[in-house]
Amino acid sequence: MSTLVVVGAQWGDEGKGKVIDFLAQKADVVVRYQGGNNAGHTVKVGEEVYKLHLIPSGILYENTLCVVGNGVVIDPEVILQEIKHLNDRGIDTSNLKISDRCHVIMPYHSTMDELEEERKGRSQIGTTKRGIGPCYMDKTERVGIRICDFMDEDIFKEKLAANLEIKNAVLQKIYKKEPIDFERTYKAYRHYAEELRPYVADTTVVLSNAIKEGRKILFEGAQGTLLDNDFGTYPYVTSSHPVSGGACTGSGVGPTCIDGVVGVVKAYTTRVGKGPFPTELTDELGDMMRERGYEFGTTTGRPRRCGWLDAVVVRYAVRINGLDGIAITKLDILDSFEKIKICVGYEYEGKVITDFPASLKVLEKCKPVYEEMDGWMEDISGITSYQDLPDNARKYLQRIEEVCGVYISIVSVGPGRKQTMILKDLI
Ligand code: IMP
Repeated sequence: MSTLVVVGAQWGDEGKGKVIDFLAQKADVVVRYQGGNNAGHTVKVGEEVYKLHLIPSGILYENTLCVVGNGVVIDPEVILQEIKHLNDRGIDTSNLKISDRCHVIMPYHSTMDELEEERKGRSQIGTTKRGIGPCYMDKTERVGIRICDFMDEDIFKEKLAANLEIKNAVLQKIYKKEPIDFERTYKAYRHYAEELRPYVADTTVVLSNAIKEGRKILFEGAQGTLLDNDFGTYPYVTSSHPVSGGACTGSGVGPTCIDGVVGVVKAYTTRVGKGPFPTELTDELGDMMRERGYEFGTTTGRPRRCGWLDAVVVRYAVRINGLDGIAITKLDILDSFEKIKICVGYEYEGKVITDFPASLKVLEKCKPVYEEMDGWMEDISGITSYQDLPDNARKYLQRIEEVCGVYISIVSVGPGRKQTMILKDLI
């Protein structure tokens, strides 16, 4: 396959960074297509650990072209810090291209995100407070500032002034807060614009040329299917489209140019932020998963909620994304569980349902129907071939394939590049 989309098949944090870093060894181009610095990918190369928020993980390979597509929202201060951080560690970023159609996260977006969460009180979403939602709101309302506008001194000045007029009125009148100063913001952001300029391009042309040349392209999804604005557990979702369809609208590449889609599935389930989570474990088993799996947010450091693998969720992700295969990550975290459960359906009003419901009211009443399997109770983190996995680990994987209706292409048993088994070549 020449063009492969990698998506999260749960609620994000599935280990996409590790899988993309692994697949990127063979890729010429890696593309981010949605989200912003709400994402956090942790990549371990040798003893070095890199935490990336906006720049595609492919940047860690010398000759890989990294594209930030139009569907991404960019906080200029954050991306510049990320570039500097990489450069300071000897990583070259001259292969980075940022779409001139990306929308810019402005200081009022992060402020509004925070204030709006505060205002919602108990019904808050648990956002990352990075201004993601308010920036996408402006994009949809057609008042957003795109990178191409940001690069033009006059247009930027005009758009910033128009935006601040209304945002400051809201800040002062609704939230009783101080207004944001035009001059100070304009000056700081003009400076960021000039620093970003060398990276800005019409990335639709860059990608179209790469496709014509038969180059291998990876599309890197952020967040996960169940956080998608349309298909996730709305309103407890993000404001973009992490599903595979988002790769097209978020990069300007047509669907006929996509050869395959792989979903990343953690061997159990986690969720950060509020919202329904049918297989959540609030007991010591959940704590054990959190501690063994080091389940704390890369972006906010928040402890992640943990629970058993939910095959209803994964099956849904297989359907919505048209998955050709899945990559199972963090299988080693289950090493010391005597019994392992998979949720194969939900009991709802006396019946078993197997399709993920849209209504949160229904979802709240759903009780997981579990199958229990014996654990393998041994350290698998050093195993490099599928055949060498303990019988019970292979049985668990086979059952996942059966109940989710999809083949497993990759199994990961640790953060390192070597702790990866390929069952089927993807790119
Ligand atoms: P926002 O994207 O900051 O607006 O947050 C909306 C929801 O998506 C919250 O529940 C966040 O915790 C969740 N979220 C956003 N980005 C990520 C991510 O990269 N991993 C996991 N959850 C995320």
